[in-house]
Amino acid sequence: MVSPFDVLGLDEDADDADVERAYRDRVKEAHPDTGGSIEEFQLVRRAYRELSERDLNGTGSNGAGDPADIDLTEGTGTGSIRVEFLDYEAIADRGWDLEDDRLFAKAADADLAPADHGRLLVEPDESLLEAAENRGFSWPFSCRGGACANCAVYLVEGELSQPANHILSEEHAERGFRLSCNGYPLSDELKVVFNVKHLPELDELRLPPGPFRRVTSE
Ligand code: FES
Repeated sequence: MVSPFDVLGLDEDADDADVERAYRDRVKEAHPDTGGSIEEFQLVRRAYRELSERDLNGTGSNGAGDPADIDLTEGTGTGSIRVEFLDYEAIADRGWDLEDDRLFAKAADADLAPADHGRLLVEPDESLLEAAENRGFSWPFSCRGGACANCAVYLVEGELSQPANHILSEEHAERGFRLSCNGYPLSDELKVVFNVKHLPELDELRLPPGPFRRVTSE
């Protein structure tokens, strides 16, 4: 397995500042928008996470800031992406418009249930759906492989990767729809509406209802 030091181009005695600096340089090069690829981007983020966790377990500061500043810190907070989410059902129930600029402000004012509106952290090696599940949320899915629209989300802010060979059309992508089962954050923060699968434009792409739980090999 390739060493995280090699991925970030570091010597093994690199300190926290070196790791931070190397990560910032490498993650820009690896970003799909600047000539990299999703795989390379994920590799760099994973390497950074590994080296940061090494510091958490051993030599002290990891430069991640005060954990108390982070919402829903079931992740490490290191290299994590903050996501604010909103359930489409809450929008439909209140007659709000998906494209309303004040959508998330309205949600904050409405004091919705934590499962309907809140924040979570996505770790470098998690898809958005995995992160939601790992933080205890039950977001819809079916195939987990890009072949349906059950896991679709609507991007209000930020960018989520969209691997090739998925079912969404270019028009869907341009409108801001992405798949959460194989979508990885490409920006430091995201705002997404999940559970948009019942929108008319996505309805025909859905598979029959799947279980709202992760399928494991146990
Ligand atoms: S669950 Fe089918 S594409 Fe994501």
